[in-house]
Amino acid sequence: MAENSHEKTLAALGVTQSEQVAPLFAQLQTQATADLQAAHSADTFEKFRVNWLGRKSGVLTLVGDNWLKLATPELKRAVGQELNKFKAQLEAQMEARRAAIESGAEETVSTKDRVDLSLPGVARPIGSRHLIRQVFQEIEDIFVSIGFSVVQGPEIETPYYNFEALNIPEFHPVRDDMDTFYVEAATESGAKTAPGALLLRTHTSPVQIRTMEKQKPPVRVIVPGKVYRRDNPDATHSFMFHQIEGLAVDADITFCDFTGTIEYFVKQYFGPSVKTRFRPSYFPFTEPSVEFDVSCIFCGGSGCGANGATCGKCKGSQWIELFGAGMVDPAVYGFVNYDAKKLSGFAFGMGMDRLAMLKYGIDDIQAFFQNDARFLRQFP
Ligand code: DAH
Repeated sequence: MAENSHEKTLAALGVTQSEQVAPLFAQLQTQATADLQAAHSADTFEKFRVNWLGRKSGVLTLVGDNWLKLATPELKRAVGQELNKFKAQLEAQMEARRAAIESGAEETVSTKDRVDLSLPGVARPIGSRHLIRQVFQEIEDIFVSIGFSVVQGPEIETPYYNFEALNIPEFHPVRDDMDTFYVEAATESGAKTAPGALLLRTHTSPVQIRTMEKQKPPVRVIVPGKVYRRDNPDATHSFMFHQIEGLAVDADITFCDFTGTIEYFVKQYFGPSVKTRFRPSYFPFTEPSVEFDVSCIFCGGSGCGANGATCGKCKGSQWIELFGAGMVDPAVYGFVNYDAKKLSGFAFGMGMDRLAMLKYGIDDIQAFFQNDARFLRQFP
């Protein structure tokens, strides 16, 4: 718009036809809207008001004086109409603006609009995988590399899978070592399960049964997961811990295949210099059963600690007990319709937390579950 057009007469602006009037007011309107938008506070709003509506020299007064009063009779009607429209529109706009400023909305908008690019950003620390997860991965990789697959099963089990199908009948004394948490759950119809019908699994061995039910031999699986026992927490016990169960079943699997597989795993995991040994043991679902030991990784199997003292980890025995294992008891095949005459296999079940503690020199299992960032950060 011509600068300060309202200070000139229509004649000076060259307006002689009534069609020229509306565009003139449109320019005024554009200017007013822009000015009003720049008013964010009560102060700037008041300046705007004086500038446009001031009685003596406000824009509207001057428009009245210079354009309307001095208009030729042909233009007067058009100028009068446009002026009224403009006035009404301006008042409405100002009212909305005043309300916005008074409610504080304008203030917020203007503070929000101000972005301070010099402020440092919020640094979000990047987490890492928990040591237990890392060790799971390490062990899974070793077994996957020799043809095992990884399968999982439910943490809430039936006594059938957790005990009976593993050849542990009700009242078998072995159940005493595996006291656990029985839970009630709602079935689909909303009814509660009978007491004792479900439990938190005490080992990952039930997944042996679930796998053989679904799959024909040959079977080569490992089963990582959480297990639960009613143990009081101390440096080596927790009510929840982690296991990896393993199962291999095929025609002609021998005790040699079994020892070879286990030894291969242990040397991959702890390093090639560890020695291994088996001791006779008992599990209802394997026959024969063994406990599997490695030469003490802390004293190198010498039984001696620093300065000739007795090694505190193996207590001088030179060996550390690792896990239980054995050849699958033929009775177990009966539960899954496998032909015990044609098949054989081996199984093992190892405590993951224990394997992690031994390899990484951690002497309290509770450290895994306390979420102390100082501990977790040591295993990035
Ligand atoms: N389920 C046993 C436990 O939790 C560990 C175990 C031992 C699993 C021998 C096996 C096995 O598959 O053959 O103590």
